[in-house]
Amino acid sequence: MNGSGFTLTNLTKVYSSKKSDVLALDDISLAVPEGSFTALLGPSGCGKSTILRILADLESYSAGDVTIHGDSPAAIRKAHRLGLALQDPSLLPWRSVRDNIRLPGQVMRTSIPKKRIDDLITMVGLDGFADARPAQLSGGMRQRVAIARAIVAEPEILLLDEPFGALDEITRQRMNEELQKLWSATCATALLVTHSISEAAFLADRVIVMSPRPGRIVGDLTLDFPRPRRRDLLSTPEFHAICDQLSAMLHAGTDGSDDDDDLQSDGELASVATQEA
Ligand SMILES: Nc1ncnc2c1ncn2[C@@H]1O[C@H](COP(=O)(O)OP(=O)(O)O)[C@@H](O)[C@H]1O
Ligand SMILES: [Mg+2]
Repeated sequence: MNGSGFTLTNLTKVYSSKKSDVLALDDISLAVPEGSFTALLGPSGCGKSTILRILADLESYSAGDVTIHGDSPAAIRKAHRLGLALQDPSLLPWRSVRDNIRLPGQVMRTSIPKKRIDDLITMVGLDGFADARPAQLSGGMRQRVAIARAIVAEPEILLLDEPFGALDEITRQRMNEELQKLWSATCATALLVTHSISEAAFLADRVIVMSPRPGRIVGDLTLDFPRPRRRDLLSTPEFHAICDQLSAMLHAGTDGSDDDDDLQSDGELASVATQEA
């Protein structure tokens, strides 16, 4: 790891409407090294997606500064140097798996070698489905296509907003292992937004914990579990100790607010039923 991956400097975001202003991010500063994997962990409404959307140049910010590999988010987006996967895989329904994965190359007007696409299809476990349409796939398979599409053009920054949030626990864990493998094969600086403590702890080099309203950083934990991380890590005392620490940070960050009810006793965050975003 060297150089700067992305930096947020005194980042503030206010969503303004006629009725009211929402201070979504309050003076967030964070710098991560190039090639690292960072997780943003926090309850619904704490501004995780806002940070990710600002990095993706899908949202403006009110004050502060943002750089990715030394450039602005707009420059990174225009040069197609970013890969993005969201909770909704948003595949083109009329295109096959192969043609969905091929899409970024077509947008960039560069041809991605057929072998690269075939290798990715194998890596995400979709051999035999290259010609299938999204409607013929399960939710987990669709999300695999979305991840393959996000990394096919070898992005410098990989932004993932709860990409496995809609999947069952077992599928989700399998996807986390695959994601780790795919990311390890790239040099991308990765940012994963999640409200799952175990997902953050399993995947990240560093977990940033946020509190809601206004979104602030309330915890910052570096994890040095060796890679590749395997499923049996989940049952080790070291992993449980990290999850307990993250859980304590989350609770400390929401103590005194009415969001406390969102925290389950096992330390996992329940998604908030009345999600505002
Ligand atoms: N387009 C928007 N207009 C107004 N408020 C918004 C908008 N998007 C998000 N917010 C508010 O900003 C806060 C942070 O939202 P978000 O970044 O989506 O949080 P998270 O991803 O952590 O759930 C929330 O209070 C949400 O209601
Ligand atoms: Mg969100």
